[in-house]
Formats: sequence, structure tokens, C-alpha cells
Amino acid sequence: MNSSVKQFQSQTALRDRLDRPMRDLRISVIDRCNYRCPYCMPAEIYGESYKFLPRAHWLTPGEIKRIAGLFVGLGVNKLRITGGEPLLRRDLDEIVAGLAAIDGVDDLALTTNGTRLAERAAELKKAGLKRITVSLDSLDETVCKTMNGGKGDVATVLDGIDAARAVGFEPIKVNAMVQRGMNDHTVLDLVEHFRGTGIIVRFIEYMDVGTLNGWQADQVVSSKVLLETIAARWPLDPLQSNYRGEVARRYAFKDGKGEIGFISSVSEPFCGDCHRARVSAEGTLYTCLFADRGMDLREPLRAGASDADLVGLLQNVWRNRADRYSELRGEKITRAERVEMYRMGG
Ligand code: GTP
Ligand code: 5AD
Ligand code: SF4
Ligand code: SF4
Repeated sequence: MNSSVKQFQSQTALRDRLDRPMRDLRISVIDRCNYRCPYCMPAEIYGESYKFLPRAHWLTPGEIKRIAGLFVGLGVNKLRITGGEPLLRRDLDEIVAGLAAIDGVDDLALTTNGTRLAERAAELKKAGLKRITVSLDSLDETVCKTMNGGKGDVATVLDGIDAARAVGFEPIKVNAMVQRGMNDHTVLDLVEHFRGTGIIVRFIEYMDVGTLNGWQADQVVSSKVLLETIAARWPLDPLQSNYRGEVARRYAFKDGKGEIGFISSVSEPFCGDCHRARVSAEGTLYTCLFADRGMDLREPLRAGASDADLVGLLQNVWRNRADRYSELRGEKITRAERVEMYRMGG
């Protein structure tokens, strides 16, 4: 982006009620997934007959591009495509190409479970995707299967990561959510496997997102404990954030073999610097991962709203935003209703 556009954006940047600008837009492109992770989409509920969104409700690539463009005009410079599992969308390359063509987008990333990555990495690179983050909770086949509902195997995900590297994605990140008694004993294996490869492993604290995972505070393994365990084996040095509001705390291996990260949304909430908006596959705008409702953009979009009308809606929602769920978690404000993560996008 040229500097005058940047300057314009910074002067006109929208602020929410806690004085936070909007910088980051996460776009969920599908609510379906080929995994059935018990903490997200438990198989007992999401069986064969479960009715996901009808395809006609998915925003089209053109609609996604238009909406994202309006967000960029309001200060967003970082886009991330999420799901469900985004690679289940056949027109994902078209979505990526549309987003890559928006002037002012500095970063365009994708979060995937990696199962379909091997066959599509090249196409995504060609379409203009810049970065890929792959979710992989453990390298232990049994643990991994337990955590994904018995749906995928480790080797397929590793093949996906290799394919993404081969076509030039750099850096690639691996996100592992850690749940006590489930995969915490496999954390060191994950670090060992990716150390020295250039792939950045990040550990995510288990969160009370959605309503289905029966989250208990004692299932969280704090980043502090993980950091101590890992640093005892491979000494670490803290690194500066790459950008203000970066969710992960970064650490470098003292021996130069790369870096790892910790996403501590439970033990060290980062709401104060939360610049993220989320739009779901059906075009609903959410201002927090823990929201119980959002604002429908699809209806006005399909009813012929002008760009100015839509921008007005977005500004209004952002100006009224006061979300800081993770900071309030300890204060018993737990909401009974929360949109599920696979619907809103992670
Ligand atoms: P980079 O762009 O590489 O810095 O990635 P990122 O950390 O912004 O995005 P990613 O999708 O890799 O985020 C990793 C995980 O962090 C998500 O799956 C969520 O579990 C968690 N996370 C991301 N954003 C938020 C947020 O706004 N609030 C909370 N509570 N958790 C978040
Ligand atoms: N807590 C933390 N991370 C979660 N994810 C899904 N549910 C949770 C949760 N309850 C992670 C997945 C994946 C990313 C999209 O979000 O493990 O890495
Ligand atoms: Fe799918 Fe991700 Fe939910 Fe697992 S956490 S079921 S991979 S959307
Ligand atoms: Fe942002 Fe909500 Fe997460 Fe806090 S809990 S960092 S406000 S998305």
C-alpha cells in the first residue's frame, strides 16, 4: 500500500469503546469440517443428519471480496481465512484470489487442519495466499485421533505441511491446542519434530469457546508451565512481537534452531490489544470470539445495500464494541449462549 493511503487509514481509523482500532479481519468461509474434534464439533451432535448452513447462505467469492474491501477501507490490513475447514470449499482459490487483489492488504493467511492441503497448496499459492497455519494437536496417532474424532491421521497432515513448504509458503505455523490429560504429554515431541525446520509451533491454551466442550479450568495447561517444561530441555530467549496485538508470545531457541509461541488467552488475556473482527460463512459480523450474537451483513448485501450503507453498519458495530471476554472470565460473567467456534471462525 502506498504511504498516503496508509496515512489516510491511520487518520481515519475507527476506534471501539475501549479505543481499539480494527486491524484484523478473520473470514470463515464454511461451517463444515471433516474432523469431529470433541472440543469443537462433537460427533454425537454433528452426525450425518446435522444440517449445516445451506450452500446458498455461504457468501460467494465476490461477496467476500466486497465485504473485505470495505473492512480494509476502515483500517484492516490483515486477513485470515478460517472455517470450519476452509479447504472443503471448492472455490477457495477464487476467494483467495479476490482477497489478494484488494489494495491495502499486507497479510493474507489461512488456518486449516491440513488434511486437504497436499492436493491444494500449489493452487492456493498461485491464487496469492501468503501464509498458512496448520492445526495439529499431537504427533501421536492415538492422541491425534482422539482429539479429532477419529477422522484424520498425522501422516496426511505432515504431507500437507511438506507440500505447503515445497510450493514456497514461509513461514508455516503449526497450532496445537493443549488440554490437560489429553495431549500435554506429547508437547515435547511436537517441539522436537519441528525444531530446526523453520516451522513455528505455537501452543494454545484450552478455552471455553462455544457451549459444547464442557470446559473446566483445571483442563488448561498454562503457557507458563509449558514454557518452563520446554525451556528446561531447550533453553529459550523471549522475542519481540512481530506487530502490536500479536496473539502469540514468541521465544527463540538459544541454539538458533528457530522459534516457538504461546497463545495464553486464559492465563494472560490479550483483549486490550484485540483488533480482530470476524465474519462468518453466512456473512454475520462478530466482534468477539465469545460473542452470543452478531450482525447480519448478508441480508443488506443481497438486498442491494450500497458500499456507504454497509460501511455505516460496520462503523456503528465497531464504535459500540466493548468486548473483552477473556479479561472478564474470572469475574463470573460466563455467558450461557455463545456462538460455536466452527461457525464463527477460530
Ligand atoms: P498470526 O497472524 O500468525 O499472528 O496468527 P494468529 O495467532 O493471529 O491467528 P491464529 O489463527 O493462528 O490464532 C491462533 C489461535 O489463537 C486461534 O485459533 C484461537 O484459538 C486463538 N485466538 C486468535 N485470536 C483470538 C482472539 O481474538 N481471542 C481469543 N481469545 N483467542 C484468539
Ligand atoms: N480452545 C483453544 N483452541 C481451540 N481451537 C478449537 N477449539 C479450541 C478451544 N476450545 C483451536 C483448534 C485450532 C484452531 C482453529 O482453534 O485447535 O488450532
Ligand atoms: Fe474442525 Fe477445527 Fe473444529 Fe476441529 S477445531 S472440528 S478441525 S473446525
Ligand atoms: Fe478479542 Fe474477545 Fe478474544 Fe478478548 S476474548 S481477545 S475481545 S476476541
